[in-house]
Amino acid sequence: MLNDLAYARQLDAEDPLRSFRREFIIPSDQGKEQVYFLGNSLGLQPKRTASFIDKVLQQWSRYGVEAFFLGEDPWMHYHDHLIKPLAAIVGAMPSEVVVMNQLTVNLHLMMVSFYRPEGRRNKIICEARAFPSDQYMFETHVRAMGLDPEEVIVEISPRKGEHTIRLEDILSAIRLHADDLALVLWGGLNYYTGQVFDMKSITDAAHAVGAKAGFDLAHAAGNVNLRLHEWGVDFACWCSYKYLNSGPGAVGAAYVHERYHEDHSLQRFAGWWGYEKSSRFKMEKGFVPVPTAEGWQLSTPSPIMYAAHRASLEIFAAAGFENLQQKGQALSDFLLFLLDGINESADSPVLEVITPRDRASKGCQVSMLMHRRGKEVFDRLFREGIFADWREPNVIRVAPVPLYNSFEEVWRFAETLKQAIRE
Ligand SMILES: Cc1ncc(COP(=O)(O)O)c(C=O)c1O
Repeated sequence: MLNDLAYARQLDAEDPLRSFRREFIIPSDQGKEQVYFLGNSLGLQPKRTASFIDKVLQQWSRYGVEAFFLGEDPWMHYHDHLIKPLAAIVGAMPSEVVVMNQLTVNLHLMMVSFYRPEGRRNKIICEARAFPSDQYMFETHVRAMGLDPEEVIVEISPRKGEHTIRLEDILSAIRLHADDLALVLWGGLNYYTGQVFDMKSITDAAHAVGAKAGFDLAHAAGNVNLRLHEWGVDFACWCSYKYLNSGPGAVGAAYVHERYHEDHSLQRFAGWWGYEKSSRFKMEKGFVPVPTAEGWQLSTPSPIMYAAHRASLEIFAAAGFENLQQKGQALSDFLLFLLDGINESADSPVLEVITPRDRASKGCQVSMLMHRRGKEVFDRLFREGIFADWREPNVIRVAPVPLYNSFEEVWRFAETLKQAIRE
């Protein structure tokens, strides 16, 4: 690798996915495109989203409520268009995916089915400093079940002086709680450090002690390799507004392993949209679930939200998710190389990368701890048209995403960062 604009441009010229950038609306200021490295927060808008939504609006104007059954694209079947491309992204079977609600809501719903404390077996293992919404979900859900969060929630932290959590520490905590563990609910990729966890090993360890394993994939879905079905994961939930580019407040999704689809011993919260399809509109008493993950659906979904999701999933399918992962890794590798160069050219290290470097343990996000004047540097980046993310007390997170970011942008980011640190 070279720290050189011409080299970055050469990488872009050789990039087989470079044309996908044209599928997106890149934010610009006075005609100059900005560097948007916030795809881990809200992915950019695909150009085709507006026309997908417009089609739904036209259906609505033409048929009113009958648009559920009439027209070119009846809304009753809209969900079917989403689950195949989405299943390919999370490594599931289409029947194991349901597109519904939003992430925190879905986590609660999955807890209803998969957190079934029995006597002593009531503990939940999770990451310390999980995303706040997950923490509030745990706290309130456990309390609603009449249990004390302080007693049942076991948080695993990085070791002193380390930023990421060691797999061996997660596995040994699972073994330590072999007799009282009900559930391991973990993040697939930590939002702060960018660390990707070994979901297969965590799932195997949980199952070995008779517990369930579920994952919050907010920062993993559409970013890193997932093989949920093959790994035997019990359930997972994610949002679609980050790497999946489906718009602010986009519809979320959940995965439920097929072994549970017809397991009637499982508890769940139900609504009419999860009712078996052929007789749903008979409106009879007694809940009969759809025998797939769709059986966890509750409410009438919004075809408008679905349309935005479909527009984006079409782009993923055209690009090929494996190709995207390769490019995402190449972008973050290039960034790590340039960040090392910044440290090497300074008298003493000016920043510390807290994202793991091996490809199995990272996606495209890179988090760096700034040793001095972090916020000033961050503000300078923003003035220079670079969108990054600031996390207190001193971390800058960036996500060069493979669908619309370029190697030249990574180079521009690193150059601007270097200058901002020097000044
Ligand atoms: C890891 C993680 N969990 C949960 C959430 C909350 O998601 P939502 O607001 O869609 O419920 C987020 C949002 O960014 C997140 O990053």
